[in-house]
Amino acid sequence: MMFYVEILGMLPEMAKAEVRALSELGGGEVVGSDYLLVYGNVEDVSVLRRLGLAHEYGILLGSFDSAQDLLEYSSSLEWNKLIKGTFAVRRERMINCSHNVEGLDKKLGAIIHAQGFKVSLSRPDTVVRIYCGERLWLGVRIREFRGKEFDARKADRRPFSRPIALPPRIARAMVNLTRATRELLDPFMGTGGMLIEAGLMGLKVYGIDIREDMVEGAKINLEHYGVKDYVVKVGDATRIKEVFPGKTFEAIATDPPYGTSTTLPMDRDELYRRALESMYEVLEGYLSIAFPADFDAIDVAESIGFKVLDRFYQRVHSSLSRYFYVMKT
Ligand SMILES: C[S@@+](CC[C@H](N)C(=O)[O-])C[C@H]1O[C@@H](n2cnc3c(N)ncnc32)[C@H](O)[C@@H]1O
Repeated sequence: MMFYVEILGMLPEMAKAEVRALSELGGGEVVGSDYLLVYGNVEDVSVLRRLGLAHEYGILLGSFDSAQDLLEYSSSLEWNKLIKGTFAVRRERMINCSHNVEGLDKKLGAIIHAQGFKVSLSRPDTVVRIYCGERLWLGVRIREFRGKEFDARKADRRPFSRPIALPPRIARAMVNLTRATRELLDPFMGTGGMLIEAGLMGLKVYGIDIREDMVEGAKINLEHYGVKDYVVKVGDATRIKEVFPGKTFEAIATDPPYGTSTTLPMDRDELYRRALESMYEVLEGYLSIAFPADFDAIDVAESIGFKVLDRFYQRVHSSLSRYFYVMKT
């Protein structure tokens, strides 16, 4: 089936890559995009439930050159296969909207209503979606991702809280970029943000931190959010083999210390290089990792044997910019 995802505007290239990764897992692919609307096909659309950098996703019914075409197509659709209970039409005018969509939601609502469906503007059971970009897009929402859900897992809302954690939506996207289906390791787990997201997706999670208080704290956090299938240990990310002897991992997602607030036991770049070597030894799949922008990760990772597939830039504040990398062994 065809799907659409409305991605967040915050890190659009990373958000598109996340949709690509998940559509691969769902047995399909991304076909294109129109500003913040990404579309493609999948056999199993439920994989998109895992999304982090998205507002919503749904079934894509079609795209049109004019409002007239959209309305004509809608008149011929069998809406009883698409609408359960009450409905509302919601229209989104994206920044590149190049059509006159004034009143289009009402006109479409009238067509659907005439087929015997009841409108509920405040609490519809089904939301019919129109997006206006370069083209007009028609779909039915499957799921909306509310900011509140993610906010409840923000660093300062965790029972064990340290101001070192990535925003949950970004952590989730990093997990998804690894295409993990069974398990995930974070060898610099801190308070466990990456593992919480991965655990909530049903992955078995493994964590390492060099500090005992972090390991105890990560356990408290994992339990708090209902993640049960975890193994977390005190250890060194540059010696993963010693922490998990004989184990290889399907996927790694991690956010090493940037060396700004923490004192590192060795030179920062040396820590990154040794940690990448250690990850390469145990990984059989994808690595998703954040590094400060002034670290030349591509050369180092490629000299170890990684293929660097993608990277996404983010300016966090005046003194911190970073790249999120996707690599493969
Ligand atoms: C940026 S934080 C990770 C934040 C994490 N994503 C979270 O949700 O809290 C980096 C973590 O790496 C840990 N660390 C530093 N050096 C390490 C090493 N050599 N091996 C393992 N962990 C290390 C620090 O104690 C810190 O908790």
